[in-house]
Amino acid sequence: MEKLKINGGRKLRGETRVQGAKNACLPILAAAALGESCIIHNCPDLTDTHAALKILESLGVCTEFENNTVRTHSCGSLSSCRIPDGLMKEMRSSVMFLGAILSKCKRAEITYPGGCSIGARPIDLHLEAFRKMGAEIEEEGDKIICTIDEIKSAKINLGFPSVGATENIMLLSAVSNAEIEIDNAAAEPEILDLQNFINSMGGNICSGGRKVFIKGVKELGNTEYKIMPDRIAALTYLSGIAACGGMGKLNSVRPEHMVLPLKILERGGSEIECGDDFIIMKAPSRPKSYGKIITLPYPGFPTDAQAIFMAAASRGRGKSSFKENIFENRFRHVSEIRKLGGRIETEGNEAEICGRRRLHGEVLTAKDLRGGAALVVAGLAAKGETIIENIGYIDRGYENIERSFGDFGAEIARVDESYGREIHS
Ligand code: UD1
Repeated sequence: MEKLKINGGRKLRGETRVQGAKNACLPILAAAALGESCIIHNCPDLTDTHAALKILESLGVCTEFENNTVRTHSCGSLSSCRIPDGLMKEMRSSVMFLGAILSKCKRAEITYPGGCSIGARPIDLHLEAFRKMGAEIEEEGDKIICTIDEIKSAKINLGFPSVGATENIMLLSAVSNAEIEIDNAAAEPEILDLQNFINSMGGNICSGGRKVFIKGVKELGNTEYKIMPDRIAALTYLSGIAACGGMGKLNSVRPEHMVLPLKILERGGSEIECGDDFIIMKAPSRPKSYGKIITLPYPGFPTDAQAIFMAAASRGRGKSSFKENIFENRFRHVSEIRKLGGRIETEGNEAEICGRRRLHGEVLTAKDLRGGAALVVAGLAAKGETIIENIGYIDRGYENIERSFGDFGAEIARVDESYGREIHS
């Protein structure tokens, strides 16, 4: 079992290049099943990306992954309309393939992705929208069988601006005779990336504010596309610099996707300079209070950055507080940060952090992806040795978190179970 070993308590200084966005890559790979031949650059080399490629292969799409570029080729129809249960369980986002498979085969069979460690994550909004578009849905145990004769035009009002539901509606209707209007749609930058990708194959989707309009087209063709940078990975490195103090530059980023989190880092005393594709941040030795951070759908503060900002706040001056509005079980990092000496009180979906000058190293367990990344940030800020176990969660979202933080001079290494052997990748 691999672990991360950190010798923390040092200032960070350096620069790194930020990977492509996982949350854009997964729905884009699902959309590739709708087109012919796609060349997709800047795909992050992650377990979830490879799981998505396995799903494409199981549907009969040929795929190749080399140096962060994916090539897909689908020969007209898909050879299967079913995602094997093992692949559904491997990655919750496999549900993103439902819309694409149903569009291509007029039938799709998946098993329920089920709950996950950050919350129940139902898919009722996806299914309700599909019904409005003419789909018949049968649920047998944890099996979902969707069929559709023709995709019907519809006006869909999402009860909550769900990222996945907005993307799945786009994937079902991009190739159709229908016109779909989504109200209260999610507006995360990754959704715009999916829209741009589909349009680059000949699709006709436009959006603005909380509305998305999809005018189905007869077919989608070939494309060559570059996936947007990962704003959450970028915020992870900035939180690390904020927690430890120092200075860093991020290259290959889109600062306009992170307006609110960058403002909060500035509120914490950091000086930030942005260019079109870079961010330079100079952080004081400890962050000042971040005030109250409330997670909300984009352009609100991202739930995926809640844990990592909380880790930085744990070493701040004064109090910061958090309110988690998106997922019901997203404080699983709290008990671990407390082991480092962090003072965090929680009540329901709210947490209050009383920053401490000194955190100390400990053995910690990652319990979910972003919570795991938060432990890396906290471990870097804590004096002495921190070991992080269960890092498979972290690897789902970061290509090589130790190398990225290593670029800032952090002492962090991947070690095998005996701690004896360092693993270099
Ligand atoms: C996506 C992101 C995830 C991010 C989240 C919110 C991907 C692969 N994952 O997840 O990293 O944290 O957006 O920004 O892009 N909900 C329902 N019914 C539904 C769908 C959602 O009740 O049918 C609820 C969820 O339980 C959750 C909330 O809506 O409480 C937000 O979920 P959603 O926006 O759909 O997130 P995901 O697409 O799963």
